[in-house]
Amino acid sequence: MTYKTPKEIVEYLDEYIIGQDKAKKAIAIALRNRFRRIQLPKEVQDEIVPKNILMIGNTGVGKTEISRRMAKILGLPFIKVEASKYTEVGFVGRDVESMVRDLVNASMNLIKSDYRKKNADKIEDYIISKITNSLIPPLPNTASETKKEEYRISSNKMKQKVKDGLVDNLEIEIEVTDAPINPFPIPNIGIVEIFPKQQKTKKIKTSVKEAKELLKNEAIENITNIDELKSEALKRAEESGIIFIDEIDKTASAESSLRQNPNKEGVQRDLLPIVEGSIVDTKYGQIKTDYILFIAAGAFQLSKPSDLIPELQGRFPIRVELDALSEEDLYKILTQTKNSIIKQYILLLGTEGLRLEFDEEALRAIAKFAYIANEKTEDIGARRLHTIVEKVLEDISFKAPEMSGESIIITKKDIEDKLDSIIQSADITRYIL
Ligand SMILES: Nc1ncnc2c1ncn2[C@@H]1O[C@H](COP(=O)(O)OP(=O)(O)OP(=O)(O)O)[C@@H](O)[C@H]1O
Ligand SMILES: [Mg+2]
Repeated sequence: MTYKTPKEIVEYLDEYIIGQDKAKKAIAIALRNRFRRIQLPKEVQDEIVPKNILMIGNTGVGKTEISRRMAKILGLPFIKVEASKYTEVGFVGRDVESMVRDLVNASMNLIKSDYRKKNADKIEDYIISKITNSLIPPLPNTASETKKEEYRISSNKMKQKVKDGLVDNLEIEIEVTDAPINPFPIPNIGIVEIFPKQQKTKKIKTSVKEAKELLKNEAIENITNIDELKSEALKRAEESGIIFIDEIDKTASAESSLRQNPNKEGVQRDLLPIVEGSIVDTKYGQIKTDYILFIAAGAFQLSKPSDLIPELQGRFPIRVELDALSEEDLYKILTQTKNSIIKQYILLLGTEGLRLEFDEEALRAIAKFAYIANEKTEDIGARRLHTIVEKVLEDISFKAPEMSGESIIITKKDIEDKLDSIIQSADITRYIL
């Protein structure tokens, strides 16, 4: 787990996301506040709850992208959920509490992966020993000292072979602990364990190579105190977990549509206790949701933040609006971000042996067409760049395997030839771009 300064977080986000400085800053501060809080004495800590964030912005301006990138650097338990996938208690679908359980699972995965890194040697030893024992079964205790010594030598040799992958293809029979029986999720009630929880083992025939994979989880559980991992996972989710709720606006309805969809508000009502702080049962134990940071995002095209139920609005005190993307923004998104669309296409077609280049004017033209198409039809933000570049490169992409070894430079004229006629008509634009 690494804590970065707000400045560092923003700098990292800047590599991937153009503009949206207010959103980046708000998030960076919120994250730093988590770190500040856990350094305070316990009594003060209890008093400080995170200030949740509501991101408001048109479709395709980077709301989800910011959260996705953030999750990557943080090494903090993070999940992204779509509010529209949840249903009110009593209806068929996912209940809202399940997002907290998912967060705890994400936290457990992080803890396990940290642990795996720290104990890589021990884990390897466990796996190699177990496989070796199944290839050459240990002698009974009553065996003579000479036999035991012989065994030790051959067992050590075998261990080395297993380790070096020299016997990867051998078939062995090993006992593995059965994957824990999946708790059976019953909609809106939660996890119900319908099978007894005891660990079962079963014998399976498999290759040494496969066995190495299969034994990984068992190895961790054997060399650690799994209860300790569980409480660590709960603690981390509780203190530094982040739940990103996308499409929150879809749970709010402008007056008129509320009548058609009465249970939307129910989801907000169910969200309320979780965001306010309550206790949720998870398969690793109970978790308090008071200190989880919630970031909600929505385009709010058909509804407004004020259409959310007031209690929920109050729980998202930090509002950040994301800006609509200008032509210049679109140009930068196209060309300057790490992994920009243009770089991706160049790499993709490069695998066919095709060298693709765009001249500067061509890139400007793509940004311009994207901007015009957004103005003429729906504004779908940077997603428009994808549809345009896809259209521009359609033929080349199709013929690329036959063009191996060639170099192609895309010019402004190429772009105009492809798009000029389409952009003339809003109707055609709507269907094609
Ligand atoms: N400001 C930006 N900088 C870089 N890339 C961006 C930016 N805005 C959008 N993109 C790119 O556009 C695509 C869509 O962005 P994203 O998924 O973040 O949209 P969104 O704001 O969550 O929209 P929606 O409201 O529809 O969910 C992504 O591929 C993303 O990389
Ligand atoms: Mg989104």
